[in-house]
Amino acid sequence: MYESEKAGSIVTDAASVTDIVLAAMSKTENPRLKEIVDALVKHSHAFLNEVKLSDEEFEQGLDFVRQVGLACTDSHNEVVLLADVLGISTLVKALNNSIHDERTGGALLGPFFRGGSPRYELGASIVQDDAPGAPVFVSGQVLNTRQEPIRNAKVDVWQASPVGLYENQDPEQPDMNLRGHFFTDANGKFHFRSVRPAGYPVPTHGPVGELLRAQHRHPFRPAHLHFVIYAEGYSTLISQIFADDAEYLESDVVFGVTRALVGKFERHEAGTTPQPEQKVHYCTLECKFVLAEGVATHPMPPIK
Ligand code: BEZ
Ligand code: FE
Repeated sequence: MYESEKAGSIVTDAASVTDIVLAAMSKTENPRLKEIVDALVKHSHAFLNEVKLSDEEFEQGLDFVRQVGLACTDSHNEVVLLADVLGISTLVKALNNSIHDERTGGALLGPFFRGGSPRYELGASIVQDDAPGAPVFVSGQVLNTRQEPIRNAKVDVWQASPVGLYENQDPEQPDMNLRGHFFTDANGKFHFRSVRPAGYPVPTHGPVGELLRAQHRHPFRPAHLHFVIYAEGYSTLISQIFADDAEYLESDVVFGVTRALVGKFERHEAGTTPQPEQKVHYCTLECKFVLAEGVATHPMPPIK
């Protein structure tokens, strides 16, 4: 006999629904699945008891979720975007980070991470076009929590262009422009060249954009670089470094900024050290990533 066939499984009133649903799910074998779905039912029912949706509001809500799904394509992930603008992605990151509080803080992956970025030698440029933009020279080190260097860590980086578009959003940019990965040297160090990213609006053509407009929220993110740092024996670090002089640093639409993730984009004039061959002004950025021991995993790319 299924749980739902037992006596007492027939709904009598609103107050009886939650327990009946929990009983129906009580034979779930996977304990973690049971914990998660039980809590989802309890909290979503509590939410409904609080806001008391009308039938029309419920239909609108279901249609919103449907529209979010329909807005997804191979190159756009509206589901991730929704989790991001509601602060869900940042909360998950913050909760997981508190388990590893000695490591560098994480930040949301975002909807624009792609797998299969080109591999570059240390020092190479991830810029594949000749679009104008101030050069930026990024150098960094990957360490463990004992401050020992981690060699051969994979540093995967991606960023928006100086006009604020990722290559997959912009037909003017070559495939995989401003994306690449590097492996750290024996001292855990890496360095590469790029162009200064601009801040940008998150995509607003879909239902998430409609929600932002209804909430009178701007859609902008401050300029940043994304990193995924992968090394065997360490918990993979997904993070971002934000430009210290970026607009919207205090009001990131997806709540990704923490003080510790603000990096100093130091400006240098043309012809000056440390890159005196530069004919235009340029920036340097130094970053340090501390990884906690754990199981290395690869994040699932939200787009192709
Ligand atoms: C990003 O940083 O790539 C991003 C994050 C959340 C929403 C949209 C874009
Ligand atoms: Fe981004």
